[in-house]
Amino acid sequence: MNELELALARLRAGELVAIPTETVYGLAADAANLDAVARIFALKGRPADHPVIVHIAGSAQLPQWARDIPDSAWKLAEAFWPGPLTLILKRQPHVLDAVTGGQDTVGLRAPAHPLTHELLVRFDGGLAAPSANRFGHVSPTRAHHVRDEFGAECPLVLDGGPCDVGVESTIVSLAGEHPVLLRPGGVTREAIEALLNTPLLHHQDSASAKMRASGLLDSHYSPRTPLVTGEYANILPAIEQALAAGEPIAIISIGTWPAHGPQGDVYPMPDNPEQYARLIYDKLRQLDKQTYSRIFLQLPPITPGWLAVNDRLRRAAHSRI
Ligand code: TXA
Ligand code: MG
Repeated sequence: MNELELALARLRAGELVAIPTETVYGLAADAANLDAVARIFALKGRPADHPVIVHIAGSAQLPQWARDIPDSAWKLAEAFWPGPLTLILKRQPHVLDAVTGGQDTVGLRAPAHPLTHELLVRFDGGLAAPSANRFGHVSPTRAHHVRDEFGAECPLVLDGGPCDVGVESTIVSLAGEHPVLLRPGGVTREAIEALLNTPLLHHQDSASAKMRASGLLDSHYSPRTPLVTGEYANILPAIEQALAAGEPIAIISIGTWPAHGPQGDVYPMPDNPEQYARLIYDKLRQLDKQTYSRIFLQLPPITPGWLAVNDRLRRAAHSRI
């Protein structure tokens, strides 16, 4: 039996399997099996009322999970699936409350990673899968991140290599009167607005703002080492003070750190949002393994291209100066 067949057998038996996607690794279980879905929550330590995304092979499976599917959903699925976009739609009555958090909606996504796509085609069902990390921690973008995360409790990990996008999918709700951007991600807001020919509401402006959605919590995606973020000029005095006091700190810069700036353990990140997204979770996990007392991170510019990265950094930060 190869790895894919082993994964299929485990999933059919109601067990968990960590799966690669183009965004981050997911912790998958048969979305139609209550005991299997309960195992996800138990392993993650995730509150039971937080909904999980159902992963499907493609838009042909949409009607199996969603009802009253609007034209906008078909359009978006056609343009961006398989890919890093999750659609929130009204659910079919059979969809488990454990999957939807008891809400009348379900999150659906067709991931693009070829291994997981093949797995979904052969599984012939939906896979409930949140990111494969303990609740609130940094999402995994490499197979070994998942093993580090769960240690002896780790389920089978299908190794699909490093994730291409590196941050979680864009989430758009089409369950209300107007489309709402719940989480920025791999598919840009501008691309969605252009296709739908209408501006997306921000989740804060809509009724869905009260919705439970863990990716929307203010504190999430966090390393264990305290993460301090800010623009260069703002973090500079705190860095100088920490270095003068002999504190073991790490600095994550955007592009090259100025030669005239304070010199310490500087980890430069690409000055490009796509490349940055691909590397940031791995960088945070690497620094977490060392003995730094704090990580100072220079924030990227506040421009549309950096929206998803800035969103995750804001939630990952323990404080911002
Ligand atoms: O890229 C991704 O989306 C990754 C990969 C594995 O697909 N998954 C992921 O799952 O990030 P998770 O559970 O870590 O985050 C999914 C987000 C959560 O904030 C959850 O609350 C929200 O999607 N969500 C799922 N179903 C929902 C629903 N019916 N209504 C509102 N939000 C929902
Ligand atoms: Mg997550």
